[in-house]
Amino acid sequence: MDFNFNMPVELVFGTGIIRNNTGKFKLGQKALVVTGRNSAKLSGALNDVVFALDHEAIEYCIFDNVINNPTMENVAEGTAFGKKNKADFVIAIGGGSPMDAAKAIAALMTNDIDPIDLIGNIPTNKSLPLIAIPTTSGTGSEVTPYSVLTVPSMNTKKSFFSPSSFPVVAFADPSYTKSLTREITLDTAFDAFSHLLESYLSLKSTPLNDVVAIEGIKAFASCMKALADDEVDDRIRSLLMYASCLGGIAITHTGTTLIHAMGYSLTYFKGLSHGRANTMLMGEYLGFNMEHEPEKIQNVLDILGFKSIIEADDFFNLGTDEKPNLTVEEINMYTQLAMGQRNVKLNPRKVIAEDIKGMYQRIFGGAK
Ligand SMILES: [Fe+2]
Repeated sequence: MDFNFNMPVELVFGTGIIRNNTGKFKLGQKALVVTGRNSAKLSGALNDVVFALDHEAIEYCIFDNVINNPTMENVAEGTAFGKKNKADFVIAIGGGSPMDAAKAIAALMTNDIDPIDLIGNIPTNKSLPLIAIPTTSGTGSEVTPYSVLTVPSMNTKKSFFSPSSFPVVAFADPSYTKSLTREITLDTAFDAFSHLLESYLSLKSTPLNDVVAIEGIKAFASCMKALADDEVDDRIRSLLMYASCLGGIAITHTGTTLIHAMGYSLTYFKGLSHGRANTMLMGEYLGFNMEHEPEKIQNVLDILGFKSIIEADDFFNLGTDEKPNLTVEEINMYTQLAMGQRNVKLNPRKVIAEDIKGMYQRIFGGAK
């Protein structure tokens, strides 16, 4: 046995944790709060953060202009704002987009480089310290070093990470997800599940990481009925956030695999939410890998209570009205883009372009 397991993020989990732990905000003199337009305010998280900062007499400025699927331009704007205000640490509040943008901004605040140079490189200087506060249960970004950014010049999303991109502290308060719509609750839960599943099946999976992934899959399984019946109460919200954090811890050690590689184009070109794009691919992904990882996949199906992959696929289409129809040209382009993602190489079964093309064709084929 041969593995490395490093989780340097202090994870504080529970309802009301920010107001009870204001001392953990003392990471600098002036905070740059990075968030989107609405979720930080609607969830109550921003109020709690302001309370904590006021309580500790820490100055702050707020950049609330993070867009969905943030671009290089967007993170450059946040960095310029942070520099102008002389912030010396960063607080991210939101779903994946603000947290990922904040990691890029924290790196760009200390490295005078073009944002595009973050992709595939580890910046020379350490990022500013970061606190991450999720307001959805899906991305797990609060416990990972990854930042997924949209790169228009490459027609896709790309990730960057560095050892100093891990948040110092993550405050996971499930009550912040109360204001989410059913659609966002479902889509983000499916994203969390895809992290757990892809990590469990990744070529980089390890026995210890499998324990984390399976614990998360069990937590997700205990939420499935409530998700299907639209009866998500406080207990379920707590379990979903737990599953999401575990998903983040799991992919910290393995990365994601084929589902994420294939899903990015569906978000970039067709506007599907990230989690929804992932679940549309779930059935094909399980079928494709079944022969190579029969025991692990059977274990997942058993935990979820499905007799077959077809039954699982039906569940993961919960809330999907219609799937986009792709033309042959689109399928060819998406295939090329997916093959260019490094996470394809971590899929348990070796993937060639024809495999990906076939999967897109079977799920989304039909347009002329
Ligand atoms: Fe994801």
